[in-house]
Amino acid sequence: MSTDLGLPGLTADTAGSSGTGGFAEPSPTAAALLLLGRGSDPDSERGVDCPGDLPAASDPGLVERAEAARAKLGDRAFVLGHHYQRDEVIQFADVTGDSFKLARDAAARPEAEYIVFCGVHFMAESADILTSAKQQVILPDLAAGCSMADMATDQQVDEAWDILTDAGVADVTVPVSYMNSSAAIKAFTGRHGGTICTSSNAKRALDWAFTQGEKVLFLPDQHLGRNTAVLEMGLGLDDCVLFDPHKPGGGLTPQQLRDATMILWRGHCSVHGRFSLDSVLDVRDRIPGVNVLVHPECRHEVVTAADLVGSTEFIIKTLDAAPAGSSWAIGTELNLVRRLALAHPDKTVVFLDRAVCFCSTMNRIDLPHLVWTLESLARGEVVNQITVDEQTAHFARVALDQMLALPG
Ligand code: 13P
Ligand code: SF4
Repeated sequence: MSTDLGLPGLTADTAGSSGTGGFAEPSPTAAALLLLGRGSDPDSERGVDCPGDLPAASDPGLVERAEAARAKLGDRAFVLGHHYQRDEVIQFADVTGDSFKLARDAAARPEAEYIVFCGVHFMAESADILTSAKQQVILPDLAAGCSMADMATDQQVDEAWDILTDAGVADVTVPVSYMNSSAAIKAFTGRHGGTICTSSNAKRALDWAFTQGEKVLFLPDQHLGRNTAVLEMGLGLDDCVLFDPHKPGGGLTPQQLRDATMILWRGHCSVHGRFSLDSVLDVRDRIPGVNVLVHPECRHEVVTAADLVGSTEFIIKTLDAAPAGSSWAIGTELNLVRRLALAHPDKTVVFLDRAVCFCSTMNRIDLPHLVWTLESLARGEVVNQITVDEQTAHFARVALDQMLALPG
C-alpha cells in the first residue's frame, strides 16, 4: 500500500509484507511522514523540528551560497553524504559512502571541528559516538530519521530480553544490531556483548556472534537478518523465528525461542520492502538478459530471485565493473539508481520497480537545509547538533568498536 506524502512524485510504502510468513508489517510511526522537517514526535529516534530559517528552494543563488559557505569553513568542516542523498546535496559531499564506510570516514577525521552528516539520524548519532568530544556532528534536517530504526525502541528491546531470559535463552543469545538503529539500541547491544553490523559486513558479524553464543537476536531488520542467515550462513528458514514486539511474548512460545537459531526482530525498510517477486519477474520479461541486483534489505523472495545482492557500495562497484552493453535492474533507493544510470550511459540501468520510490526521510536533506547549515556554521552558529548522552554513547561505542574490529 502506498501513501501520498503530498510531495510531487513521492510515496512511502506503509504496509509491505515479508512474503515468508503471510503477516502484515507494522507501520512506521506517523512521524515518518512529517513533511520537510516541520513538526515533532518525541517517540521517534530522530526527534524534533528543524528550527531553521531556511532559504527558499526557488532561490537561484543556492549553489553559490553553499559553495561560498563551504569555502569559508575549509578544513574545519567535513561533509559526509550517504549514497541515497539527492544530487543537489551529494555534490557538496567530501566523501560519499554506505553506512559502514561513512562511519569509518567520520572516525578518521579528528581534525574536523564540524562533521556535517548528510544522511539520517542514526548515522549522525553513530558519528557522534565515534568522534571526539570536541567535534560536533550536525544533521542538516533533524527530521531526517529512519522508519526502520523507529521499529525497535529501547523499551521494547528490554522487554524482549526479559522474555528471552524467562525462556532460558538470554545467556546463549548474542544481539547483532543493524547500524540502522537508535543509539539506545546500540547501547543495549554493547551491554549484552553483541555487535553492530551493516549491510556490507552482516555475514562477518554473524560469523563472530556464533563464536560467542548459540543464538542471535537480530535487530531491527528481519530481512537483512534472514537473508544473511539463509543465503550466506547456510541456515534454513525454519532456523529463524520472527519476534513481534507488538504481541505478548513476541508472538512466540518459549519452546520456539529455545529451538530457534536466529531470532529476527519484526522490522523492515519501507523503501526496500516495496520490491516484490513480481517486480523481478516483470523486469526479466521486459529486458531479456537483465541482471537483477538488489540490496539485502529486500524481502527474502526478492533476494532469492535476484542475480546479485549487496550493500550500496557493492552495487556501485558492481556497476563500475560491468561490461558495456549489459543491462541492470537495481533494487535500492531511487536517487542512487538514477545516478548510476547517468554514470553508465553505455549500460542499461533501470529501477527494479515501475513505481517511483525515494527514501522520504533521506530526501528531507535538500539544498536549502544544507545552505542554512553551512552558512550558520560559517558564522559560528552551531545548528542541529546531534549528541548522544555519555552512558548511552559508552555502551553503543562498545558495540560499534566490536563491528570495526570484525576480521576481514
Ligand atoms: P547501506 O548504505 O549500508 O547499504 O545501507 C542502506 C540503507 O538503507 C541506509 O539507510
Ligand atoms: Fe531507513 Fe530504509 Fe530510508 Fe535506509 S532507505 S534510511 S533503512 S527507511
